[in-house]
Amino acid sequence: MAAEAAVTAHDVSKSFIMGRQKVAALKGVSLRVPTGTMTALIGPSGSGKSTLLHLIAGLESVDSGELEVLGRPVQTCGQAELAALRLREIGFVYQDFSLISDLTLVENVRLPLEGMGVVRKQAHEAACEAMARVGLTGLENRFPAEVSGGQQQRTSIARAIVGKRKLVLADEPTGSLDSKTGVEIMEILGGLRDDGVTVVLSTHNPANLSYADQTAELADGSLVGINVRPDAGERP
Ligand SMILES: Nc1ncnc2c1ncn2[C@@H]1O[C@H](COP(=O)(O)OP(=O)(O)O)[C@@H](O)[C@H]1O
Ligand SMILES: [Mg+2]
Repeated sequence: MAAEAAVTAHDVSKSFIMGRQKVAALKGVSLRVPTGTMTALIGPSGSGKSTLLHLIAGLESVDSGELEVLGRPVQTCGQAELAALRLREIGFVYQDFSLISDLTLVENVRLPLEGMGVVRKQAHEAACEAMARVGLTGLENRFPAEVSGGQQQRTSIARAIVGKRKLVLADEPTGSLDSKTGVEIMEILGGLRDDGVTVVLSTHNPANLSYADQTAELADGSLVGINVRPDAGERP
């Protein structure tokens, strides 16, 4: 595997307060995600997969432990720097696609760039390029409701990589898709990884694990197993 790490979690914990109860969502998780690899998070519902992805994305803050994302120690990063990291370098793909229904596909994809202040024409070109990369050329001006679930998820992946972001986090990206479409989405995520993008996804589907360089298993907030694919370092 590559020597550099896109994500390093050391003894990371996170709890949520639910009414009067404290729920320990992650308990001392340590994980290293080498740059340009795909890591799959598995484990039953409630085991902490989404929480870990949200911490890496900077959508939630770490309670204790150390978390470094793309070279930044996120606990000591300011809010502004975290927001910029999220906007410029990290893409998030959700199970339900999370597209804005009254924007066209290309308008959805170019949103992060517009948020960064990239001029419209340049944002549009980059969005079309990202859409081409996921096989959506020709569908730029459709609305989400006019395309299939698989095409909506491709759009969401295009939005996650537009502007050459380096880290794609995907929370059950195939969870709402039939198995054939799920394979297409995994092929796309695998292709991004082959191009040097770091991918971390959560999944319930064992078939998706064959794409991953390493699989990290969570149970009740703890990391209970890491399975590194033996040939992971041999891929060009
Ligand atoms: N925002 C939140 N508020 C309260 N509890 C939460 C929140 N997010 C997650 N949890 C709790 O943390 C635990 C782990 O949840 P989650 O990370 O969503 O697991 P998974 O994605 O593996 O299903 C669960 O007990 C869940 O109820
Ligand atoms: Mg989840």
